[in-house]
Amino acid sequence: SILEMEVEQIHKGKYEHYMQKEIHEQPESLTTTMRGRLIRGGSCKAKTVLLGGLKDHLKTIRRSRRIIFIGCGTSYNAALAARPILEELSGIPVTMEIASDLLDRQGPIYREDTAVFVSQSGETADTLNALEYALENGALCVGITNTVGSAIARKTHCGVHINAGAEIGVASTKAYTSQIVVMAMLALAIGGDAVSSQARREAIIESLFELPRALKVKEVALMHSEGILAGEMKHGPLALVDENLPIFVIATHDACFSKQQSVIQQLHARKGRLIVMCSKGDAASVTVGGSCRVIEVPQVEDCLQPVINIVPLQLLAYHLTVLRGFNVDQPRNLAKSVTTE
Ligand code: G6P
Repeated sequence: SILEMEVEQIHKGKYEHYMQKEIHEQPESLTTTMRGRLIRGGSCKAKTVLLGGLKDHLKTIRRSRRIIFIGCGTSYNAALAARPILEELSGIPVTMEIASDLLDRQGPIYREDTAVFVSQSGETADTLNALEYALENGALCVGITNTVGSAIARKTHCGVHINAGAEIGVASTKAYTSQIVVMAMLALAIGGDAVSSQARREAIIESLFELPRALKVKEVALMHSEGILAGEMKHGPLALVDENLPIFVIATHDACFSKQQSVIQQLHARKGRLIVMCSKGDAASVTVGGSCRVIEVPQVEDCLQPVINIVPLQLLAYHLTVLRGFNVDQPRNLAKSVTTE
């Protein structure tokens, strides 16, 4: 057991916990995820994406009537973050399914659907059962996993490995960001060479190249947060806001920025304790009318912004947990891979 502890320390290197190590590894893990897949090309050659495991199926995917993302936990959330860019570049409706919910409802799946299974381990029972179900219903099944040779990687028709390296911490960090990047590359691949979106695709590829550098965000240790879409605040959660409630607002610059600004005003008016995450240089425009703490993050192409924005939140989760004396790598009652229903 002393030997085990020593081996563990070797794996963790200079870090105290796996989660901390995996958060800091993200510039490298993302580089590995993108390696060999992004082609910048010469001055006249367009920038493109090459996903070897998908190339024979891209035509079928482009013809599908719907793309369904299926996953559990953090993998489901990664798909949620990638959905807008997939819809934008593919022009195909994208729907989301929590694997167990799809199975409980026996939700309809058709031959004309492309079902994308997102799973770090590739072994999650709920996701695997949903895959069997989609196969029975004749959908084209695509896997996005971090584990070569896993059940989901083997049973899907085609797929993409995220190549983030082994993730030990139960809370998914680097696998999450790599999943988003893979799904952004998937969107680029499906988008193909449509002239109308060429400039947009090139900007995204450029931003992907820059991402590992943009990720060197400083550490922060703040408070706990609960994810609510800004548009939903007025439909209920606003009632909870008072001077005792810490609120972490993500207001990085995108098409919805002015909406985020007005939500900040409303939260100010109700005396919420605000911490606002905004793009570099935007601090003055998010603090209007009150004092709040601001975290500035580098601005990247909007569809990749979640990869940046998650880092201060990962660090927040990490530091809070450590400060409270809990086990950060193995939270109680949770398993890294849930292989039962
Ligand atoms: C477990 C883990 C979560 C993970 C989920 C899905 O519940 O505790 O962190 O997001 O499984 O795992 P997967 O391997 O399919 O991504």
